[in-house]
Amino acid sequence: MARDIWFETVAIAQQRAKKRLPKSVYSALIAASERGITVADNVDAFGELGFAPHVIGAIEKRDLATTVMRQEISLPVMISPTGVQAVHPDGEVAVARAAAARGTAMGLSSFASKPIEEVIAANPKLFFQVYWLGGRDAIAARIERARAAGAVGIIVTTDWSFSHGRDWGSPKIPEQMDLKTIVKLMPEGLTRPSWMLQWGKTFRPPNLRVPNQGAAGEAGPPFFNAYGEWMGTPPPTWEDIAWLAELWGGPLMLKGVMRVDDAKRAVDAGVSAISVSNHGGNNLDGTPASIRALPAIAASVGDQVEVLLDGGIRRGSDVVKALALGARAVMIGRAYLWGLAAEGQPGVENVLDIMRSGIDSALMGLGKASIHDLGAGDVLTPPGFTRALGVPATDAV
Ligand SMILES: Cc1cc2nc3c(=O)[nH]c(=O)nc-3n(C[C@H](O)[C@H](O)[C@H](O)COP(=O)(O)O)c2cc1C
Repeated sequence: MARDIWFETVAIAQQRAKKRLPKSVYSALIAASERGITVADNVDAFGELGFAPHVIGAIEKRDLATTVMRQEISLPVMISPTGVQAVHPDGEVAVARAAAARGTAMGLSSFASKPIEEVIAANPKLFFQVYWLGGRDAIAARIERARAAGAVGIIVTTDWSFSHGRDWGSPKIPEQMDLKTIVKLMPEGLTRPSWMLQWGKTFRPPNLRVPNQGAAGEAGPPFFNAYGEWMGTPPPTWEDIAWLAELWGGPLMLKGVMRVDDAKRAVDAGVSAISVSNHGGNNLDGTPASIRALPAIAASVGDQVEVLLDGGIRRGSDVVKALALGARAVMIGRAYLWGLAAEGQPGVENVLDIMRSGIDSALMGLGKASIHDLGAGDVLTPPGFTRALGVPATDAV
């Protein structure tokens, strides 16, 4: 009899991912930085928000569809860009297929393991994510490659602060996958035979190159070479973001905004969307949960740009809480990575289905016909929950 691959929550997908992946690959997905304060707060903060459901008054049919950066999506959940080098041989192509099957868009990391041309073929609703790496000429070349491939938007991520060091230890990521490395990693791999078999069937080890950092059709530089070049690139200014918005000339999202003053500057720089995000707690530890920063940012710029949120989304009710507090839609990271690790493309579809049914169930309980009817009054927000960062009077919160 075929194995039942369906899982009912993201927590179960995570347990399966932990069982299936070699320890170092799993811990690369856990990621986070320093003491892990921010990564924990991202998730815990959603637990502090509550609901007050009706007993009668549910609406029979509920509308979950919306648009993000001109793309129609069937639920307010998108794929956040992540590099998934060794998680699954089909990597971002499997994620793109799953997102397309469930009617949503995808952000593709410039550190992804698959070339943009292959990923777009699986899902044309694709936003290409760039880091500030290599200066304007190099970035312009990457943007033009994305344009030629058919990307419908750009996500620029500028919040990375090169934090390294975790109290629970970091995985040792090899510089390249040569024979010596494969032999060295074999004992760890052998503890995860189904993962090994999956890669064995492809007759190639996990690719540690980043094909979207080079020219179309080329293998791209090794991950660590690109990372080193990134560390050596002067960080961007607001003028650089304005330059990028003009160069691209289409929908552009600035990802990683946590402060109201930055959100306003992003509007002035000409972006069309922002994601309230702390990079999933992988950066400056001690940054509050993104959901705490959302209400002030949405109130300040929500009528000028599309405001999204990412960080800590693990269930549909989290999505509803974020929408009630001002997000247009959310992006998910670890949730789909665990689904991918656990079951490949069907696992990512499963995660999106969990999100959809959780959103639908919360709307039903709240007596709402549509995600567009949600507002702050639909969520119980405890006193002191929010953090209005970058607002002069409260900057020290
Ligand atoms: C393993 C991993 C890799 C990531 N890689 C990228 C990346 O390449 N580019 C980017 O903009 N964000 C990256 N992120 C951040 C995610 O896009 C997103 O902001 C974060 O995962 C959201 O938090 P969540 O994991 O709690 O959903 C990564 C996150 C993880 C966990």
